Order: sequence, then C-alpha cells, then structure tokens
Amino acid sequence: MAESILVTGGAGYIGSHTVLQLLLSGFRVVVVDNLNNSAAVAIKRVSELAGEFGKNLAFQQIDLRDKAALNKLFDLTHFDAVIHFAGLKAVGESVQKPLLYYNNNLIGTISLLEVMAAHRCMKLVFSSSATVYGCPKEVPCREEFPLSALNPYGRTKIIIEEICRDIHCADSDWKIILLRYFNPVGAHSSGYIGDDPHGVPNNLMPFVQQVAVGRRPALTVYGNDYSTKDGTGVRDYIHVVDLADGHVSALKKLFEGSNIGCEAYNLGTGKGTTVLEMVAAFESVSGKKVPLVMAGRRPGDAEILYASTAKAEKELKWKAKYSIEEMCRDQWNWASKNPYGYGSPDSSD
Ligand code: NAD
Ligand code: UFG
Repeated sequence: MAESILVTGGAGYIGSHTVLQLLLSGFRVVVVDNLNNSAAVAIKRVSELAGEFGKNLAFQQIDLRDKAALNKLFDLTHFDAVIHFAGLKAVGESVQKPLLYYNNNLIGTISLLEVMAAHRCMKLVFSSSATVYGCPKEVPCREEFPLSALNPYGRTKIIIEEICRDIHCADSDWKIILLRYFNPVGAHSSGYIGDDPHGVPNNLMPFVQQVAVGRRPALTVYGNDYSTKDGTGVRDYIHVVDLADGHVSALKKLFEGSNIGCEAYNLGTGKGTTVLEMVAAFESVSGKKVPLVMAGRRPGDAEILYASTAKAEKELKWKAKYSIEEMCRDQWNWASKNPYGYGSPDSSD
C-alpha cells in the first residue's frame, strides 16, 4: 500500500509542485490549505498533470489553527508523514503585522504538531528557509552556522525549528527534516502551474514576470552598490521542480528507517547569481525587455547568500539539476500562458 502524506499549504507555489512530484512518485496525498494565498484551481491542475495518479489526491479546505477540523481529518485518515508548507511568507508584511505572522505560523504549526502527536504520526518535513542564516559572516551557508532572524517572518522559522528540536528531544519517535530553501523560481515545464502571489510581488522573479507581461512598468533594483560583480545582490536561485524533488528525497530518508532525529538540510544549487544576471537570463529566453529603476538597498537584505549543498547531496542523495536559463524559460512559459496567474485581469491588482 502506498504511503499517505498530508501536505499542508499544498495549493501554494512550492506545495503544488511538490504534490505533483509526490503523486508521480506513487504517494497518496491529502492537501490541507485555507487558500489564503492560493487558489483551488491549482489542485485541479496538479491532479490533471498527474494523469492516472491524480486519483490519489484529495483536498480539504482547513485552516491549521482549526484544531477540531484537523483532529477530525486525522481520525478519518491514517497519515504516514506530513510535509508542512502552510504559512505566511511576506517579509515586509511580517514587519508591519508581526502578530498576524506569529499567530498564523506559530499557532498553526503548534496545532498541527499536537494533532500529529495525538495520532502518533511522528514523521515531518518542515519548510524552513535560508532566511534563518540572517546575514552570514561567510558563504556558502552550512547547516551548522548560527541562526539569526532579520524580521518576524524569519523569527517564526527559527522558532519552529527550535520547537521541532525540542519535541524530538522529548520524544525520540519524532523524525523531522527541516529543509532550508534558498530562492525557488521557475514553474513546471507544462506552464500549467506556477507562482501566483496575491498583491504586489515581494520576490524578484514574480515581479520580473509581471513586468514582462505588461502588468507593471519596471523592476526596482534594490541596491547596486554591494560588493558583488555588478553591485547587485547575490542569491542561490533553485528551480521549483528541483526543490519539489528534494522533498521526495527527504520523505524517502524518513521512511528508510534510519535514526534521523531532527536534521536541517539546505536546498539550493550552491551557485550565486546577481539580480542583473537573472534579469539578463530572463530577457534572453523571453525576448522581452525588462526596464530597470535603480534604488537603494532594501532594509534587511543580505548581500550574498548561497548554499553549501554537500550535506543534502550526501545524506538525502539529492542534487539540483536545472540551470538559471531553464528556471527563466519555465518562469516565462508559465507567465506567458497565464499572464494573470490563476486569476483574471479583473481579479489582479
Ligand atoms: P505560498 O503562499 O504559495 O503557499 C503557502 C500556502 O499555505 C498557501 O496556499 C496558503 O493559502 C497556505 N496557508 C497559509 N497559512 C495557512 C493556515 N493557517 N492554514 C492552512 N493553510 C495556510 O508559499 P510558498 O512559496 O509555496 O511557500 C511555502 C513554504 O515555504 C512557506 O512556509 C514559506 O515560508 C516557505 N519558504 C518559501 C520561500 C519562497 O521564496 N517561496 C523561501 C523559503 C521558504
Ligand atoms: N530584488 C530586487 N527587486 C525586487 C525584488 C527583489 O532588486 O523587486 C532583489 C533583492 O534585493 C535580492 C534579490 O532580488 O537581492 C532576491 O530577492 P527576493 O525578495 O526574491 O528574495 P530574498 O532572498 O530576499 O528572500 C527570499 C524569500 C524569503 C526567503 C529567502 C530565502 O522572500 O522568504 O528568499 O533565501 F526566506
């Protein structure tokens, strides 16, 4: 019998791509999402892309803080493991509305962990972030580096990581993998699912894509006086399908029976790319010009951030495959086929 996986936040950007890879790998999947930052149509499209495996996907619109609803779901369904994506993720909004972030991300996670413990479902993969490294003293970032938060969003990730370490200390039946994502970009090669953030995008590539399809006039480049090759910030961009495959590898690690405990792994490519290099790669694959407006540094931005990939390669037997050109090609394929994401021109802002 195939293992059954609960995916929280599975209607979102990374979640939807991961659910597809899970289905194609033979898992049964139940998605729980409150659709706060996503659309149910994403689930429908994942099911279609999965072909015959689409029948192994179910969706429940539940807020994780609704513990009674979660309990009911766990009473009715046996889950072998949980992948926990659900959370709010806009850094700037977290500075303006810290309580919203602490309430949603922390209370949602505690509610989930309590229900899991009550049902003795003790295998978890959690979506952490490279943001937990703050502004590191050196790169590439290794998993044992000290953690520091630059904003409430980052603090929720560190607190949840600590909670995971604590629950494992208290009960060694917990097996937990904390995945620290670097910068996910791109979309499934079909162009049928992709990133569709509500409101003005915070992240570079969703913004670039909206400029390219004419929804916004220009990209504001935050800082061109960094100590980098062209003065703009350096990040480790990773294709979202590579990232999704990293979750399948993490689950396999949890199921192989090793005494994993609670371990953190970076998911990145190990390569740094500047903002201007990303824009140039996108212009070249799309044939679209992306007008730029140079501005000051964005508060809280690190100068250079990229991953050490050695631990994930060795222990999860996973390595990113896709190049920057392939990330941009698939981002453009999604953008040009869905200029308003899952919505319509009327529903966008
Ligand atoms: P997303 O917003 O597309 O997906 C998150 C999903 O969680 C959404 O569908 C949203 O509706 C749902 N959700 C939020 N709060 C919920 C709640 N209380 N109950 C039920 N559902 C809820 O974001 P994403 O880019 O797919 O990110 C997924 C995870 O990865 C998040 O935890 C995010 O912090 C983390 N992460 C993302 C990035 C990135 O750049 N995208 C980088 C590092 C880490
Ligand atoms: N940038 C711009 N203009 C924009 C948006 C971004 O110049 O409109 C620049 C930023 O200054 C940075 C780079 O593009 O140099 C990447 O910025 P993103 O906002 O796309 O990504 P960040 O690395 O700042 O943060 C993202 C997520 C976090 C996550 C982190 C993990 O937003 O949630 O990656 O590394 F924690």
